[in-house]
Amino acid sequence: MPILLQLDSSADLVTSRSRAITATFADTWRGLSNEHTVVHRDLHREPLSHLTDAALHFPARLRPEGARPSAEQEKLQQLLIAELVAADVLLIGVPLYNYSMPSTLKAWIDYIHLPTVTAPFDDPTSQQPLAGRPAVLVSTRGAVYDPGTSTEFDDHALPALTLILANALGMTVETIVATRTLSERFGAPADEVDTQHEELAAAHESAARAARRLG
Ligand SMILES: Cc1cc2nc3c(=O)[nH]c(=O)nc-3n(C[C@H](O)[C@H](O)[C@H](O)COP(=O)(O)O)c2cc1C
Repeated sequence: MPILLQLDSSADLVTSRSRAITATFADTWRGLSNEHTVVHRDLHREPLSHLTDAALHFPARLRPEGARPSAEQEKLQQLLIAELVAADVLLIGVPLYNYSMPSTLKAWIDYIHLPTVTAPFDDPTSQQPLAGRPAVLVSTRGAVYDPGTSTEFDDHALPALTLILANALGMTVETIVATRTLSERFGAPADEVDTQHEELAAAHESAARAARRLG
């Protein structure tokens, strides 16, 4: 039973582009067979609490003496990690907020990046249970951060997510990007609006193609 874990984090429940693109991916996935299932976690509608204790970033044996992180949060952390490990493909909607990822998504990352459990640390036998597992990041942004532009290095969402998911967890990360998403709303020149429409259509096509390929 192939499982897709779909995470959405846009705070826009009406016109969100990332939500629309992840929906295209998830709908295509469901259409592949009756066995293809989707576990959907909406990090905006049902936000996770922030970590209340830094000790949760490490397993018990590596915590400072006397550390007693909340048992409830520890349970939640285990549940989120189990949900991730059970998924064959991870799909994340990543709207760019203040040059970074939404704090709701960052909270999820803070739970699931657990050295020695999901990422190697001090123990050579540490596992990387997600090694080679596909992760698809759907990045939407109002402006343009393409290679060669003066803002090329101003996107701090995709690089941070790639560091965690690819470098630390060993996942195979691919991205689908749609830029200029606010061009129509703010009266941008017609060619900018056209480019936005083209990118958006291409992003939906890429999402459907990726779902068929990975499913
Ligand atoms: C709180 C907030 C911060 C934003 N910061 C940025 C930004 O730093 N750079 C940018 O290009 N767009 C920024 N935007 C615009 C969004 O990236 C853009 O609207 C994008 O389409 C959001 O994804 P969505 O369509 O899935 O909601 C911001 C929007 C919000 C609501």
